[in-house]
Amino acid sequence: MQRIPHHIAIIMDGNGRWAKAKGLPRIAGHQRGMDVVKTMTIAASDLGVKVLTLYAFSTENWKRPDNEVQFLMKLPGRFFDTFVPELIENNVRVEVMGYTDQLPVGTQKAVQAAVEQTAKNTGMVLNFALNYGARAEIITGVQQIAEQVLAGQIKPDQITEQTMATHLMTASLGEYGDPELLIRTSGEERVSNFLLWQLAYSEFVFLTKHWPEMDADELKRAILIYQNRHRRFGGLAENKSDKE
Ligand code: IPE
Ligand code: IPE
Ligand code: MG
Repeated sequence: MQRIPHHIAIIMDGNGRWAKAKGLPRIAGHQRGMDVVKTMTIAASDLGVKVLTLYAFSTENWKRPDNEVQFLMKLPGRFFDTFVPELIENNVRVEVMGYTDQLPVGTQKAVQAAVEQTAKNTGMVLNFALNYGARAEIITGVQQIAEQVLAGQIKPDQITEQTMATHLMTASLGEYGDPELLIRTSGEERVSNFLLWQLAYSEFVFLTKHWPEMDADELKRAILIYQNRHRRFGGLAENKSDKE
């Protein structure tokens, strides 16, 4: 229970393959995946995680067939309709990052309602990456900074890592913006345009299980793998504060 990562980011992958292996349509995998989000949220909150960021829909996922995209866009509404009371019970606050203005209005409303209904909660932040892409995120941040330079508010040589970090979609997470641990399920070992800046020194754990098969024990197993890693941040000894 010591050294629980403050911020865990998860690429929830393998819904479609899980369904296919069972002879079910891909959307059955997404449906089951939604239930697993509930389980994992409570598990992470119980472990004392401060921020759980879940990659739910990427800026590239629009390429999928219409019926799948439509189903995915309905999931947030179904998720929050049934789960907000439990989120409140567990003091979990919902946040969302991504280009939400491009989502169907119904999806936007469902997400916004959940953000508002849980706004007063002070426990774990459940941060959904929805229509999120890291390259687009960086471009948007750079555009904002360029505007400030144009307006004479800052000089180019005053742009620091901190400047950049405060113009990314994780800015509201403050000191927890960068995940210590990235988990990807389903055996794929790639980042797929997720948190490119923030993952600079994250530990990556790739699990072979598909997302619909995940549970609290698998989360604990991933955290244990993380705890046995030696984080050096370019130095030689393990960062002491990280051990506490
Ligand atoms: C992850 O599962 C969910 C989303 C990307 C929305 P996939 O739908 O990518 O499942 P696979 O990778 O095709 O099995
Ligand atoms: C990444 O998974 C996006 C989400 C989990 C939301 P994908 O299934 O879209 O990634 P690729 O296509 O395998 O790289
Ligand atoms: Mg996938």
